[in-house]
Amino acid sequence: MRVGILTGGGDCPGLNAVIRAAVRKGILQYNDEFIGFMEGWRGVLENTTMPLTLETTSGILQLGGTILRSSRTNVRKIPGGIDKCVEVFKANKLDALITIGGDDTQGVANALIEKGVPCVGVPKTIDNDLSGTDACFGFDTAVSIATEAVDRLHSTAESHNRVMVCEVMGRDAGWIAITTGIAGGADVILVPEVPIDIVETCRLIKYRHDHGKKFSIVVVAEGAKLPDTDAQATVGDKLDSFGHARLSGIGAVLAEEIEKRTGYETRSVNLGHTQRGGTPTAYDRMLSTRYGAAAIGLVHEKKFGRLVVLRGTEIQDIPLADAIAQTRTVDPKLLELAKSLEPKA
Ligand code: F6P
Repeated sequence: MRVGILTGGGDCPGLNAVIRAAVRKGILQYNDEFIGFMEGWRGVLENTTMPLTLETTSGILQLGGTILRSSRTNVRKIPGGIDKCVEVFKANKLDALITIGGDDTQGVANALIEKGVPCVGVPKTIDNDLSGTDACFGFDTAVSIATEAVDRLHSTAESHNRVMVCEVMGRDAGWIAITTGIAGGADVILVPEVPIDIVETCRLIKYRHDHGKKFSIVVVAEGAKLPDTDAQATVGDKLDSFGHARLSGIGAVLAEEIEKRTGYETRSVNLGHTQRGGTPTAYDRMLSTRYGAAAIGLVHEKKFGRLVVLRGTEIQDIPLADAIAQTRTVDPKLLELAKSLEPKA
């Protein structure tokens, strides 16, 4: 078979491992041929490709980013965009397309399926917010990076008797924040799913300081709502082509508010794109490899319009449309766990 592969949306550790696994299994087990579309859907629209062979995918398992590069090109916003993709798919004489991406990328794939383009999806996002799967690759790496940062913040916070507010990514879901917060032993963890209670936040910090500790660590998700409002902190008003605002800045706002209300010196640090860069963890390399191999397997079973997912410890597949239907928010059990470790009011 001739198979196209693309990576869309924000990059994510493990993308190269998915590409490598799909290509290796496809060539070695089925004699497949592959082409990679460059920069996500933009590469399909412009028909810019690179050959994906055993040679071009060699030595990439441990590399961050994506050899195919990525973009947030929204084909559905471009007049005639979907038809152009169908045309390019046919011109390249492809039998299938593997789309590695989050809900935006898979939304376009779903529109193409309706036009008869046989797509198989692989769920990617450090935010871990795709429904239908228990884990997206890249999340484990992002949490590991953020947890190490929180560990490091402890010693500088303690040396200076400071409160440190650490802002992490995650868009409208608090998976990175809650997991990093619990793993890093943060004193306050704030997620988009629960409105920020600034009075309670300051109470928790004061409690520690009244009980012998002179420093505190707060982990806040970029999408957490500003105190006393329903708004998220954003950079400018510009939306990306999928209509998302650029979330950032809640950490700085919160640090100012905490310092004002408690009198404790407070600093903020925004981990930003460091969470997305660099080499994937062993867990993410494994998950990515399992996803890539499963995706090419689905292509050969002709199970199109499906997304490979992790359910428990098993790789399964679900309809693509189910995965993009809604955002998977944080498991309430994790919120309860974090609460159970806090001192009572
Ligand atoms: O969806 C992944 C993500 O990293 C979000 O956590 C974050 O809000 C966004 O992408 C940042 O996107 P960009 O790379 O466009 O700044």
